[in-house]
Amino acid sequence: MQETRDTWQSNIGFLMAAIGSAIGLGNIWRFSYMAHEHGGGAFLVPYLTALLVAGIPIMLLEYGIGHRGKASSPLALARIDRRFEGLGWWMPVVAMFGIMLYYSVIIGWCANYLIYSFTLAWGENPEDFFFNHFLRLSESAAVWGGIRPPILLATALVWLACWLICFRDIRHGIEKAAKFFMPLLLILTAIMVAWTFTLEGASEGIFNHYLNPDWSKINFLSADPEARVAAGRVWAAAFGQIFFTLSLGFGIMITYASYLPAKANLARNAVITATANCSYSIFAGLAVFGIVGFMAHSQGVDFAEAIKGGPQLAFVVYPQAISILPDFNALFGVLFFLVLVIAGLTSGVSLIEAFSCALTDKFNWPRKRVVSLLCLLGLLGSLIFTTRAGLYLLDITDHFITSYGLVLGGLLQCLIVGWFIGPEKLRRHISRLGSRVPTAWNFFIRYLTPLALGILLLMALYGDLAVNYSGYATRHLLLYGLGWLLCCLAAAIILSRQPWRAVKLKRRHRPGEDELLV
Ligand code: ALA
Repeated sequence: MQETRDTWQSNIGFLMAAIGSAIGLGNIWRFSYMAHEHGGGAFLVPYLTALLVAGIPIMLLEYGIGHRGKASSPLALARIDRRFEGLGWWMPVVAMFGIMLYYSVIIGWCANYLIYSFTLAWGENPEDFFFNHFLRLSESAAVWGGIRPPILLATALVWLACWLICFRDIRHGIEKAAKFFMPLLLILTAIMVAWTFTLEGASEGIFNHYLNPDWSKINFLSADPEARVAAGRVWAAAFGQIFFTLSLGFGIMITYASYLPAKANLARNAVITATANCSYSIFAGLAVFGIVGFMAHSQGVDFAEAIKGGPQLAFVVYPQAISILPDFNALFGVLFFLVLVIAGLTSGVSLIEAFSCALTDKFNWPRKRVVSLLCLLGLLGSLIFTTRAGLYLLDITDHFITSYGLVLGGLLQCLIVGWFIGPEKLRRHISRLGSRVPTAWNFFIRYLTPLALGILLLMALYGDLAVNYSGYATRHLLLYGLGWLLCCLAAAIILSRQPWRAVKLKRRHRPGEDELLV
């Protein structure tokens, strides 16, 4: 292993990279659509509750583990106890093979649409263009139907861009890119939001549909049993979104914190990262709802009719709205898709970094070789999502990986720190470095957060057993959802059984003699 570990050049560089990882595709349209579907302003209650109950506590925990262990997740957890190494692999494997393989393809879609924006290539019918011309969507997940060349080309460029950033050491690669891209992202988003406010009907979309709370959607104490179940789903969705959006359970924040110098205010950094990310989501939502409000107003249709969920929001509704803007349509389109590409790239590099750093920590392989090989393998793995069935496959994979993969990672980390090593040791470590972590954090990590995550997992499982997700055939759900999860599990087990080439590790933890916490 490297004698001295790379460090960030500055704390602000670390923050930019961590916020860059957190702010991604999920913030811009996933959050907005969820807010609309789950009670508008009322969704902020479960969302902010999830932030306080799970988001910030686990962010602190991941920063603490990474900083104290000075290692990526497998090594940091193996230093607590060799038996936890498997979990340490599970998280970056899920990030790299569960998420990045399709995440890169979605960034590729955005890059295609960035080019289409110059000529408004989607024409009069963006829905037909997206499904039948761009994706050439096959009839079901069973029919792959060949690779779509424009998607493949853009996906290859995305992997190339990630390789160019990750290839260099952390200071000259990810930190430099984050310092350039994050302020740019903020400026472009601010321009987009300000522009949206000038459009007729935008404020109606924002104030009547985005910020207007429908409390019944989140009331899990309702007398009506159906409403109770529906509200339960909203709460579960809010927790899932918090994990995805804060990049928790991926091993990313552990790895990023491992590059911090010995003296770093982890508590302050965790609060800043989480707050910046969630504020960005709420802020970007203004642009999304504003433009849908404008479109509904211009076409004289109901807001509910104008808005669509999932990928359609960005690739059908937005193009529709862009086409009918009074001026500078192409410029607005370029702005929107550029924001998505930048947000996606800064998250994409973190997904790769978590896994490549884990490999270099364990096998002592040179970083450049690891990153090059991973980006090549990643591109090959992405091919499946560039086929004509890509949309179905990524939808299924995303559902299973985010509902189970990430949350499970978060839950197990809480159990390890809460019940095995004791949260107080980690709390003391974090507090010594700067801002004090309240003792209530121990209670959260030991009881409240794992309890909330456990309930969330059970609710997700109950929902999936009761009805097939999005009406997909059971065999497809088993193959691309459960199958994908099992592949990640197998990879994590195989990797954790390999001998350590870079460090010597103790076999078992004995109280008071672990290497990580003193
Ligand atoms: N945190 C990243 C996102 O929200 C993965 O897209």
